[in-house]
Amino acid sequence: MEYRGYDSAGIAVVDRSAGEARLAGAKKAGKLANLEKELDVRPLPASTTGLGHTRWATHGGPTDGNAHPHFSAPADGVYTDTAGKVAVIHNGIIENFARLKADLVADGVTFLSETDTEVVAHLLARDFAEAGDGDLGAAMRRVVNRLQGAFTLVAVHADAPDVVVGARRNSPLVIGVGEGEAFLASDVSAFIAYTREAIEMGQDQVAEVYRDGSVKITTFDGEQVQGKRFHVSWDASAAEKGGYDWFMQKEIAEQPQAVADTLLGRVNADGKLVLDEMRLSEEELRAITKIIVVACGTAYHAGLIAKYAIEHWTRIPVEVELAGEFRYRDPILTRDTLVIAISQSGETMDTLMAIRHAREQHSRVLAICNTNGSTIPRESDAVVYTHGGPEIGVASTKAFLTQLTACYLVGLYLAQVRGVKFNDEVAEVLTQLSDSPAAIAETLNRMDPVRKLARSMVGARTVLFLGRHVGYPMALEGALKLKELAYIHAEGFAAGELKHGPIALIEQDLPVVVVVPSPKRPLLHDKIVSNIQEVRARGAKTIVIAEDGDEAVAPYADFLFHVPELPILLQPLVATIPLQVFAAELADALGYDVDQPRNLAKSVTVE
Ligand code: G6P
Repeated sequence: MEYRGYDSAGIAVVDRSAGEARLAGAKKAGKLANLEKELDVRPLPASTTGLGHTRWATHGGPTDGNAHPHFSAPADGVYTDTAGKVAVIHNGIIENFARLKADLVADGVTFLSETDTEVVAHLLARDFAEAGDGDLGAAMRRVVNRLQGAFTLVAVHADAPDVVVGARRNSPLVIGVGEGEAFLASDVSAFIAYTREAIEMGQDQVAEVYRDGSVKITTFDGEQVQGKRFHVSWDASAAEKGGYDWFMQKEIAEQPQAVADTLLGRVNADGKLVLDEMRLSEEELRAITKIIVVACGTAYHAGLIAKYAIEHWTRIPVEVELAGEFRYRDPILTRDTLVIAISQSGETMDTLMAIRHAREQHSRVLAICNTNGSTIPRESDAVVYTHGGPEIGVASTKAFLTQLTACYLVGLYLAQVRGVKFNDEVAEVLTQLSDSPAAIAETLNRMDPVRKLARSMVGARTVLFLGRHVGYPMALEGALKLKELAYIHAEGFAAGELKHGPIALIEQDLPVVVVVPSPKRPLLHDKIVSNIQEVRARGAKTIVIAEDGDEAVAPYADFLFHVPELPILLQPLVATIPLQVFAAELADALGYDVDQPRNLAKSVTVE
């Protein structure tokens, strides 16, 4: 689970090796490797019940002490038998922790960390002791009812040595069901090596998983519920590097397959699109008067591209909004507004809060998501799954291409349902889309010069990216990739805006990456060729991505990369690839960890 946070890591197990059960644990700042080293030196006893955590810091810096698990009594060093009876791990933020902490401190409790999480360890220990019934699940239910905020909590207790208890409100938690064993995790990838059978957990529920593999799920009020079981379609090998140096390298290479898998089975024998989990009726879809796409990070860039395609094919107005901004500005939402939430993980808190707001206003919500059973699709009216398989690299690559693919499918489907023009054009796009995996594969074969160029640019301090039409969001994505992976200052601009400000940044040898639209769109193409000349005249080093056969740009390009021809709306499927490879390769050349860029996390479950 390290891709979800790697500031620090820790583990605790119930140790029954010496008569009375007790807890043993270790925790270390930094990446998981630090904890592994620690455990090599001081191994924990064998155990059948335990928990582990990798952290993305919110309250309290990434130190050994602030690492999870948190214990209910002073830990004496990293391996301890005085660590109290309770160990807790937590994702999310407990918003009322300060008040709870003040009450506990007034009662004489000593706190060992600066985290919000530690209050839960103390509350759980006290409640369990006071009740005296040995029921950790019941204690957890009472404690969560005192908490505000978003949290996934998992706890063990030395005096309830055969159970691990988890609770969730807003943050993810899923149950893995093995044979004679059971798991709780934020993501199925944590237990996929042991079982592919899983159970979804709903909002405000507590799960108890027992040593014999049995599972009990209740609401926060104690009512027993049946979780929805599902089978994970991929296996452990999909979450391994498989001979590649980094996950991101593998995920970039998997893009033809990921796009093909996302398209698979979506066109019927009559050439019509069928979206299985589009739980909105054709009548509802026909009534839509406006679409708002909400997403974060790379998924937001997919949304920006989707706007060009969906508006063109359906003539429905599309707005695209950063999910974290959406609900705070009182957006205009009606029953006839379709909100499309794009999220690889299906757990991004900003996006989740945006769709909850939309549904409160009675808008329909369609999720585009890569994670079966995750919160965002569960809370949406409809879902189109991208079948990209697990994405481990923190910076998104294959998820982006599959999100684009799903957006195209949604746009074409809306056009089909509404009959606006499910005519030759849309049918033709479907054919081009189904041919796109071959074009993506061909693009990947051409990446050696991009790698070479990236490795020659380790001295770059700033890189600008320019594009027009769908090239503009691609420029934003290229800049984001470079920022997050290589920590180089990068900006993406709409090429037309250049003369209104950004051109002032151009100086001798400043690298400027330009995504050029097809010469078949001469009006657009010629404008951007002029823009390239404008920056070059001022000393910029131009790195140009253009379509096969486009030689008009050659005289103005210091570096020219050709990508296979696709209609302009689909061009991002190929033209994004050199941007991904460029950023990853440059980061690697600089000696950075491509899969785990500093300060970032794959799935951000706090607002
Ligand atoms: C994080 C990741 C990004 C990702 C964004 C949205 O910031 O580092 O790579 O694009 O979250 O994630 P989602 O899971 O909602 O697509």
